Amino acid sequence: MGFISIFFWILIISGVVLIVKELIKRNYNNSPLDILKNRYARSEIDKDTFKQMKRDIGGSGPMKVRRNLIAGLVLLAFGLAGFAVLSQTRMSRVGTMSGSMMGGGMMGEMRQMMGWMRGEEVEVDLSGPRPMENARTVAAGREIYEERCVACHGEKGDGKGEKADELNTKPRDFTSGLYKFRSTPSGSIPRDDDIYTTISRGLRGTSMLPWFGLTKEEKWEVTYYLKTFTEWFAEEKPEPVIVMPKITTPLSELVKKGRQVYERAECFNCHGKQGRGDGDRADELEDDWGRPIRPRDFTSEAFKRGARIQDIFLTVATGLDGTPMPSSVDGLPADDILAVAAYVSSIAGNRPRRRGGMMGMMSMTDDERAGMMIDHPGMPTGMMDNGMMNGGMMDGGMMR
Ligand code: HEC
Ligand code: HEC
Repeated sequence: MGFISIFFWILIISGVVLIVKELIKRNYNNSPLDILKNRYARSEIDKDTFKQMKRDIGGSGPMKVRRNLIAGLVLLAFGLAGFAVLSQTRMSRVGTMSGSMMGGGMMGEMRQMMGWMRGEEVEVDLSGPRPMENARTVAAGREIYEERCVACHGEKGDGKGEKADELNTKPRDFTSGLYKFRSTPSGSIPRDDDIYTTISRGLRGTSMLPWFGLTKEEKWEVTYYLKTFTEWFAEEKPEPVIVMPKITTPLSELVKKGRQVYERAECFNCHGKQGRGDGDRADELEDDWGRPIRPRDFTSEAFKRGARIQDIFLTVATGLDGTPMPSSVDGLPADDILAVAAYVSSIAGNRPRRRGGMMGMMSMTDDERAGMMIDHPGMPTGMMDNGMMNGGMMDGGMMR
C-alpha cells in the first residue's frame, strides 16, 4: 500500500471516529446545554439564571457538537475523494501510456498475458472457419510476419533475426522444415493445426510468447506464410496425427506405472533419476544446428509446450525433431507413453505458478522477458522498456 493511500485511510478513520464520538455524546445528553436544561428542569436554577447562563455558553455546547460532526464528515469526504482521485489517475496513467490500446481490447490481452505469466493454460480453439490458403492470405501472412516475427526469426525465416543473438534459446530456422512441436510422427512435417497451436500458446521459458493480440484469421495467415520458407510443405503431406488414448485407469495408478516406464525407457539417461535434468548424458547433447542443449529439469523448469498430460504425451510420442529428445511411438505402446506422461506431469514443478502477478513476473526467464520487449499487438510497445513494469503498472495497482 502506497504512502498516499495510508494518508487517505487516516483521514477516513479519524473522520469516522469523530462522528461516532459525537453521536455517542448526543445519546448521553451531556452537552453543556443539556446539563443546563436538566438543572432548570430540576428547579436548581431559576428562569433568569437559566437564560443568562444559556447566553453565556452562547450555544457553544450544541455548536461544538455540530462543529465536531462537520469536521468528521469533512475528513471522511476528503479521504473518500482522495481514493477516488487516486484510482482515476491510475487508470489514466495506464490509459495514456497505452494510447491506442484501449480501443483495441488491450485490457483483455493484457489480462491474458498476465494470466499466462501466472502459469494459466492457454486454450486453443481450432474449430470454426479458417481462411483459404492462397496468394492473398499468404501475402497477408507475410505482412504480419514482417511486423511481428522478423525480429527473431529473420527476414528469410532462417532464425537469424537481429534479436537472436541475445536469446539463450535461439529462434526456429523455418527453412529447414524441422519442427519440434508436432502432433505428427518424427520426420513428418507438422500440420497447420500444430503451427497455429504454437503461435497461440507460445513456448514457455522461451522468448516465443503466446500471440494473444493476433486474431484467428491473422494466426492462420501467418501460419500459411511460415510454410513458404521451405519446399517441404509443397512437396509432402503431413503424416497422420498421433492420438492420445483415453485415460481409463485412476490417475494415481497411471502415475505409478509411469514411474516404471520412465525407468524402462531410460529417460533418466538424459533427464536424471529424479527428473532434475542431470542424467549421465545431460552435458554432451547438441541440437541439429550444432548448439549445446540441455534436457529439461522437470522439477523446476517450465515445459515449452505445456506440462499437462496431453502436452507431454505428444512430446514423448512424437519427439522434438531437431533435438536429442527422441520419439517413443515406435518403441513404446501408447498406454505406456500415456503413463510416463502422467508421471512426468505429476512431478512437474513449474505448473501453474499460481502466485500473484508480481511473483509470476519474478519467476520469468530472461528469454521470456526479452520476448516481452518485442511489440505484441494489443500490448504496450516494448512493455518492459517503457517502465510499465516498474513504474506504471506495478505500483499503480494493476498487478495486484
Ligand atoms: C522474441 C523472439 C520471437 C518472436 C518475436 C517470435 N518468435 Fe517464434 N520462436 C522464438 C524462439 C526462440 C523459438 C524456438 C523455441 C525453441 O526452440 O524451444 C520460436 C519458435 C517458433 C515456432 C515453433 C516451431 C517448431 O519448432 O515447432 C513457431 C511456429 C514460431 N516460433 C512462430 C512465430 C511466429 C508466427 C511469430 C510472429 C507472429 C514468432 N514466432 C515470433 C522466438 C520468437
Ligand atoms: C537423449 C536424451 C534424451 C532422452 C533419452 C529423453 N529426453 Fe526428453 N528431452 C531431451 C532434451 C535435450 C530436451 C529439451 C528439448 C528442448 O528444449 O527443445 C527434452 C525435453 C523433454 C520434455 C520437455 C518438453 C517441453 O515441452 O519442454 C519432456 C516432457 C521430456 N523430454 C520427456 C522425456 C521422457 C518421458 C523421456 C523418456 C521416455 C525422455 N524425455 C527421454 C533429451 C532426452
